[in-house]
Amino acid sequence: MQQIAAAGDSRALEDVRVGALGKKGSIAELLKTLGGMTPEQRKTQGPLFNGLRDRAADAIAARKRELEGEALEARLMTERVDVTLPAPEAAEGSVHPVSHVRDELIAIFADLDFKVAEGPDVETDEYNFSKLNIPPEHPARQMHDTFYLKPQSDSTRTLLRTHTSPVQVRTMLAQKPPIRIIAPGRTYRRDYDATHSPMFHQVEGLVVDSETHLGHLKWILEEFCKAYFELPAIGMRLRPSYFPFTEPSVEVDIQCDRSGGQIRFGEGRDWMEIAGAGMVHPRVLEMCGVDPEYYHGFAFGFGIDRLAMLKYGIPDLRPFFESDLRWLRHYGFAALDIAALHESLSQ
Ligand code: DAH
Repeated sequence: MQQIAAAGDSRALEDVRVGALGKKGSIAELLKTLGGMTPEQRKTQGPLFNGLRDRAADAIAARKRELEGEALEARLMTERVDVTLPAPEAAEGSVHPVSHVRDELIAIFADLDFKVAEGPDVETDEYNFSKLNIPPEHPARQMHDTFYLKPQSDSTRTLLRTHTSPVQVRTMLAQKPPIRIIAPGRTYRRDYDATHSPMFHQVEGLVVDSETHLGHLKWILEEFCKAYFELPAIGMRLRPSYFPFTEPSVEVDIQCDRSGGQIRFGEGRDWMEIAGAGMVHPRVLEMCGVDPEYYHGFAFGFGIDRLAMLKYGIPDLRPFFESDLRWLRHYGFAALDIAALHESLSQ
C-alpha cells in the first residue's frame, strides 16, 4: 500500500502492479502457495490472500485515477488559449464553383431517384455522333467544332467529346430499361470567348421507360430548377427546336427579370434559355439496342458552368479555368459547405 501511494506517475504505478499482481508478483506467489496447504489451512489462508489481492487491485485502480486527474490538471495549467488573440488564418484552398454546382446537381437528381453515370473524355466518333443519329456528313457535326485525335491503327476515329450525350449511348448499350441517369462531366469544343471555353462542363440526363412522355420531362426540369435556384415556383416554357438525337426537340427557358442590370429568376416577364432536351429519337433507341416499339425516353443537357454563372452571379467564363487564386478565393466554397438538400443548397 505504501508503494502504491508513493508511485508518482503511471509508469511507477505499473511497476508496482507488476511487482505485486503480475505473473511472478509477490501476491501471485503467495496465491501459488495455497496449492501445497492442507484443506484447513487453505480455508483460512485462501480468503486472506484473495482479500489482499482485491485490496491491492482496488488501491492501484484508485491511485491510477488520481494520477490521471493530476496529469489532466497539469496539462490544463500549461495549455492556455488567449481568446483575445486574433483568429487563426482560415484554411487555404476552396471548392471550385463547378465542383460545388456539380455536387448540387447530383444532390437534387439523386433525390429524384437518378443515378450518376460516366463516360470517357476521349470518345469515339461513333458514340459522340453516329449513334446519336448524327451520321458522317450531317451538318450538326460542323456545329460542334470538334477536337479530333490522331487516327488509330484500326482506323477508329477518336475525339474529345463535344457533349455528354455519348453517355446516353453507353448507358443504353450497357443496361436495360428502366434507365434514370445523369452524367456530369467535361466536354470540349474549339471555342473561346466570354461565355465559351475550349473545355467546359455539361450534365446529361436520360430516362427510358415504357411510359415516358414530354410531361414527365417538363416536371423533372421544373423540379430541378426550383431546387437549384432555391425558389418555391418558377415559370418554364419549352420552345420547339432541333437536335438530331431527339424528336420532338425542345429548348428550355426559365422565367426571369433582367431589369436593373441583374438577373433574377422566378419573377419578371423575360426568358432565359437553360437547357436542350427532347424525347429520345426512336432511331437512337434502336441503335443502342432499346426497342422503340416498347420503350420511350427523354433526355436533357445543361451547361454546368453556365448554371454556376447564373446562380452565383459570375459574369465571365474564362477565369473559371485560369487558376487565379484571387478568383478562387472570391468565388470558391469552403470545404465543409456540402451541397445537401436538407440544408440550403448553396449555404
Ligand atoms: N448535347 C446537346 C449539346 O451539347 C445538348 C442536349 C440537347 C442534350 C438535347 C440532350 C438533349 O440530351 O436531349 O448541345
